[in-house]
Amino acid sequence: MIQINHLNKDFGTKSVLRDISTTFNAGVTNLIIGQSGSGKTVLMKCIVGLFEPTSGDILYDGRSFVGMSKQERTSIRREMGMIFQSAALFDSMSVLDNVLFPLDMFSSLSAKERLRRARLCLDRVNLLEAENKFPGEISGGMQKRVAIARAIVLNPKYLFCDEPNSGLDPKTSLVIDELIHDITKEYGMTTVINTHDMNSVMGIGEHILYIYDGRNEWEGSKEEVFDSNNEKLNNFIFASDLFRKVRAAEQHSHSNGS
Ligand SMILES: Nc1ncnc2c1ncn2[C@@H]1O[C@H](COP(=O)(O)OP(=O)(O)OP(=O)(O)O)[C@@H](O)[C@H]1O
Ligand SMILES: [Mg+2]
Repeated sequence: MIQINHLNKDFGTKSVLRDISTTFNAGVTNLIIGQSGSGKTVLMKCIVGLFEPTSGDILYDGRSFVGMSKQERTSIRREMGMIFQSAALFDSMSVLDNVLFPLDMFSSLSAKERLRRARLCLDRVNLLEAENKFPGEISGGMQKRVAIARAIVLNPKYLFCDEPNSGLDPKTSLVIDELIHDITKEYGMTTVINTHDMNSVMGIGEHILYIYDGRNEWEGSKEEVFDSNNEKLNNFIFASDLFRKVRAAEQHSHSNGS
């Protein structure tokens, strides 16, 4: 569980995050949504410690991140897996070596055990057969799956994904979403996903935090998202052309009695 308490982040005189409080529970896919520039990435970077918040705190299962020593932060970072916008694989390393990398850096397992663990994770994302390929030789969706395998190889308690579907077609996005959702359940991870993909919201939006202009504007589940009276949220959702069409099609089929 990650608790955010009254988090503020300013850059100079520019206030980007304003008094954000929320809770991300374990075993749940927590989505952060909001329009471009609303502060999703800045929030995620504050949570993982890439940015220092101006004020407020982040509690990792009760442990205050802001008050931690450098050493304590280093150890908590080992409990985090991250997948950023670009898959950010090492191009000169094979798929297998990419997944092995965190193990080689941080684990005390034997070489044989590390290999076993890396292959297990590659198998989990259905990529065992591609282990000797290089990132440049596989598709964008496959690269994302390698990034997921690499992110979970150290068995993280917390998983962070910033726009995991960027650059992917809708069908591949669905595969990635379901993979992230399933491994979240399997390992009981606290997973936080930044997205502006409405398909993801409707697919895996167990807990959704809608940020508007750096503020926590609305929170709820995918079941609640359409019944919300929050005007800003409704504008955001229905700005998605697809959703207007789906809604129209639904209403059409209802009025036809089917
Ligand atoms: N290092 C920085 N210095 C100054 N301002 C920044 C910095 N990083 C982000 N910002 C500003 O913070 C605001 C929020 O940016 P952020 O990247 O969090 O948006 P976002 O919601 O992730 O958008 P997108 O959906 O496009 O990824 C923007 O106005 C951006 O210009
Ligand atoms: Mg962003």
